[in-house]
Amino acid sequence: MGALIGLIVVIVSILFLDWCYKVYKRNKQLEKIPGPWPIPFFGYKLPTNVFDLMRMFDDLTKKYGKTCKLYIGESLHVVTCDANLIEQVMKSNVHINKTKLYDISKPWLKDGLIVSAGDKWRQRRKLCIPSFHFSVIKNFFKIFKRSSETLIKRLGEQADKYVEIDAREFISKFSFEVIAESSFGIRMNVQNDENQDYIKSVDKYTEIIFTRAFSVWKRFDILFKLFSEDFKMHKSSLDIIDGVSKKIIQNKRDEYENGNVTEIKKNTSLIDQLMHNAKLPDDGVYEETNNFLFAGYDTTTTSLCFTLFELSKRMDVQEKLYEEIKLTLNNDFSKLSHENLNSMKYLDQVIKEMLRFRSPVPLIERVLEEDFKLGDIIYPKGTAITMLLYWLHRQEDYYPDPEKFDPERFNADNPQPPTFAYVPFSAGPRNCIGKNYALTEIKTVITRIIMEFIIEPVVGAKLELGLAGLLYSKYGFPIKIKKR
Ligand code: HEM
Repeated sequence: MGALIGLIVVIVSILFLDWCYKVYKRNKQLEKIPGPWPIPFFGYKLPTNVFDLMRMFDDLTKKYGKTCKLYIGESLHVVTCDANLIEQVMKSNVHINKTKLYDISKPWLKDGLIVSAGDKWRQRRKLCIPSFHFSVIKNFFKIFKRSSETLIKRLGEQADKYVEIDAREFISKFSFEVIAESSFGIRMNVQNDENQDYIKSVDKYTEIIFTRAFSVWKRFDILFKLFSEDFKMHKSSLDIIDGVSKKIIQNKRDEYENGNVTEIKKNTSLIDQLMHNAKLPDDGVYEETNNFLFAGYDTTTTSLCFTLFELSKRMDVQEKLYEEIKLTLNNDFSKLSHENLNSMKYLDQVIKEMLRFRSPVPLIERVLEEDFKLGDIIYPKGTAITMLLYWLHRQEDYYPDPEKFDPERFNADNPQPPTFAYVPFSAGPRNCIGKNYALTEIKTVITRIIMEFIIEPVVGAKLELGLAGLLYSKYGFPIKIKKR
């Protein structure tokens, strides 16, 4: 027994010394970057819930300024909201790979565009780009318009009652319907209460992986399987998502093989682009269509919900928007085209400001593939660069009075922030491939809502933000709507 204890003490001591040596070596290289001293083996003590995580980054940026270093276990993270450092990382063609944080999504997203690395990522990115060509977005635009009409009906029912609603309940179904149709080429009609199992499974699964990603212990597969009460739900949700996706892909494959796909269809959805033009096998089609669904669903939902919530508090902004829309469309939504949507300058300012103020993707990460020099600091290979987009967008030197929601910041007559101080869609080779898709969708539906309704605040509505992969609102998005 004594010998066993002795052996354990020796092993722990060796591991401890090894840990200290690694941390010491890296700390020496980055001694100019401040940061909290790590707890042996654990590194920085991560909070256990998404709201404390948000506060943790608030506190770190207040205490250490734009850049600090942090250990998670023995993995070194340089956490930054410095536009210069962010620019060098985002622009790089070398440091394009993601960190382990993203692996949590692999059971569903496999090795698709969001997580894949190196040559596989390059090849897939090339195959997917044609789906976001201007002419294809024009086709998606028809889907946005059609689903907006259903949304207006659903919201109209609530406006008649003039009761408090959580915007998320309606917006999430709208966003899901359009992204599912754009990815898979089929109408899911979730706004009319069809396919509820599928959307619920995607919601549940997404929630679980986002909370896992930032949990100290749930990140580890074995601990998650053995001890987390979420594991069963994780598995059953994934089974449903898997089943539906595979069935859609099989049906589409059959359609192709039977020659039932018309020319127009071939140009409308990602699945057609991947199967017909790129000749990708079914597992590749699975990866990319599901990656798009994942990347495009919650991001646009979150953006739209925050837009409505912020607009509810700003009648002046709503009225200015309404005037612009009236002038452009003469109160006839059927006149809305891809071109006149892009001509509305104030609408553009409002959406830009919302993406700054409530950046839906609060942070992203890259791993350094080789030593990386900036100024007189050499960041060692293997370091994770955590880019704090949410906090970058509220640095006072880039944005005076950052806690104010003010679309005038993006009025072209006013001084604009440095290019890499505004990156809600990331930038460089690994930027968001769906940026134009997302902006067109958001602008279409906001235009439609503002034409039809006045959005009012709910008295006493509280806002508490969390970092759950995406920006998360604890109390949802309470608003009231009234017909114009
Ligand atoms: C307002 C809505 C959106 C925001 C704020 C947003 C933001 C981002 C950001 C910040 C990234 C970089 C992620 C990283 O480096 O880890 C990204 C990547 C990506 N986004 Fe979006 N996104 C939005 C909507 C969409 C939509 C609608 C789609 C698809 C239709 C989409 C598809 C993707 C894909 C596939 C990637 C991975 C690209 C790659 O690694 O090559 N996103 N997005």
